[in-house]
Amino acid sequence: MRVHVADHPLITHKLTYLRDKRTDSPTFRRLAEELVTLLAYEATRDVRVEPFDIETPVAPTTGIKLSNPKPLIVPILRAGLGMLEGMVRLLPSAEVGFLGMQRNEETLEAITYANRLPDDLKGRQCYVVDPMLATGGTLADAIRYLADRGADDITAVTLLAAPEGVKHVEEALSDLDIPITIVTGAMDEKLNEKGYIVPGLGDAGDRLYGVV
Ligand code: URA
Repeated sequence: MRVHVADHPLITHKLTYLRDKRTDSPTFRRLAEELVTLLAYEATRDVRVEPFDIETPVAPTTGIKLSNPKPLIVPILRAGLGMLEGMVRLLPSAEVGFLGMQRNEETLEAITYANRLPDDLKGRQCYVVDPMLATGGTLADAIRYLADRGADDITAVTLLAAPEGVKHVEEALSDLDIPITIVTGAMDEKLNEKGYIVPGLGDAGDRLYGVV
């Protein structure tokens, strides 16, 4: 598994305002979207492309376009939805599937409560988006779910990650024989006893959508 901490100054700058507890929901949503677009740029470095011929006003040349099947973006509900627009902006021809996963706050285990994905993901490149890689339980389950359906290249895009979560994902998926990449805006210090990332930014879903 490859882990890429995308510590570009603009990413760290936007993260700083996301972390700040004084940042309100509308600003948080806008910043999260901008930040995801920057992370998506890093995460799509290996997106599959194929050559195709065009003519400039001056001469013929060869360019590239996204290969088929098109990549699949999979936001994990609910907080992953806040990252969808930023991904789609860079990959407008990608398809979007949804995976509803929630943490049991006591056991910290992930439960799948909804899915809207193609049954057959054979040969698909998938981009799983979820803002917080905390315990890693949800992300590991989501990646396995996609791999079991045939996805053969999976990149997770997260705003923040905790070392414990990255370790868990790596161990839980060590039997999978496909490229798995994690792209994150920062690797924070640790998880606290409630499973929150420290220093983190709090509950990403609540900060995006309010406490409901
Ligand atoms: N989920 C969140 O929204 N925040 C955390 O810090 C950990 C998990």
